[in-house]
Amino acid sequence: MSHPQSAVLANPFRAGNGVRPPYLAGRDGLLDEFGRFLIEPHPPHVNWSLTGLRGTGKTVLLNEFATRAERAGWVCGTRELGDRHRDPEVLAQAIASDSDALIRRCNALAGIGQTIERSFRFFRPRRLTIGELGVELAYEGVSSDPAEAIGAALSAVAQAADEAHRPGALLLYDEAHLLSDDRSRKEFPLSALLAGLGQAQRSSQSVRVVLCGLPTLTLNLKRAKTYAERMFRQVVVGHLERGDAWDAIGIPLAGSGRSFSLDLVGDIVEATDGYPYFLQFFGAFLCSRIGHAEVNRADYAALEPVLLHELDLAFFEDRYAVAGPAGQQVLEAMARHAGTVGALELRRALPANANVDTVIFRLVERGLIYRPSRGRYDFALPLFRAYLRRRANLTELAWGR
Ligand SMILES: Nc1ncnc2c1ncn2[C@@H]1O[C@H](COP(=O)(O)OP(=O)(O)O)[C@@H](O)[C@H]1O
Ligand SMILES: [Mg+2]
Repeated sequence: MSHPQSAVLANPFRAGNGVRPPYLAGRDGLLDEFGRFLIEPHPPHVNWSLTGLRGTGKTVLLNEFATRAERAGWVCGTRELGDRHRDPEVLAQAIASDSDALIRRCNALAGIGQTIERSFRFFRPRRLTIGELGVELAYEGVSSDPAEAIGAALSAVAQAADEAHRPGALLLYDEAHLLSDDRSRKEFPLSALLAGLGQAQRSSQSVRVVLCGLPTLTLNLKRAKTYAERMFRQVVVGHLERGDAWDAIGIPLAGSGRSFSLDLVGDIVEATDGYPYFLQFFGAFLCSRIGHAEVNRADYAALEPVLLHELDLAFFEDRYAVAGPAGQQVLEAMARHAGTVGALELRRALPANANVDTVIFRLVERGLIYRPSRGRYDFALPLFRAYLRRRANLTELAWGR
């Protein structure tokens, strides 16, 4: 049977933010471990942190964790944290409202009627924002200390899960690297969260947390509380092993009516370095641009410059733009090195800029770079170096004309 051109040819790939891939490659081992974590009443680490560069599939995994935990009887709440949660009060309020939602579910499951009303009143926010105005509301029994408020909310969730005969309650927070403590602003959201969590978990491990975010999260946790290392099992996700990367391309194609030649799959695995977002992007791009079923290396070679340009627009350009001129100088200086770069080297490379350290700090805050070890920096976006070099060449060509 021959296919009429392009219109009916399938595109099985999905490049996007937190979009479930057609085939979740290379995560079976981790998901098995997570399954064990769910049935252990006293796991060695009561919580998990899940970190990795952008586009490594953290959000997809976090959602998969939630799905599996629910299937195992846990009650789960997921949330994407934002800049506003750097304010500990706002964070405490968010956790209280997530807790409240879980408590209601537990109560409904346990058939407890009037407690619903009680829990709701207990967690009503102390500060409401109406239009532009913040209104302070004092409620009896609710602490004004964010750590205590978080501890109380989480303890109440643990109790509700126990009463509903559930294995536990799980809160899964994405983009948690945003919660760094900030001494200069005197805001300590991560410390408050860890203190509250520690308080609740001293009496019950029926409430647990998964924090997910960029690699900076690991360092932030360590800095916030020395005991964070004992509270969190630190899981790092990265690029897929070669075989898994092959599967990420090959398995979705099987039965789709399209095929990629083996040397083409090899090229894609090579060019993407096995990073999930890029694998999806390359696959999706080639399927959308090529109007015949059997795609080979020559098709890809002809499209490569356009593909890279589209990839730059989709993944890199906006993030490069937010760095601002000073940040861009630091990024470009970093791209001239092969691996991690020291702050000292950057200061030397940019003698005209007196505030290199501040610029670096902002780049970390914006999630563009992170600190893998003391005083050293690396990109938080995979293949960012290659992009910056590509960009520098294009600019040079443009100027040369
Ligand atoms: N294990 C995987 N195998 C194949 N594709 C994946 C995998 N994990 C994620 N993806 C794809 O990668 C892209 C980025 O995933 P996402 O979870 O948003 O990454 P992150 O949260 O780390 O930035 C999505 O298009 C998703 O479908
Ligand atoms: Mg994500």
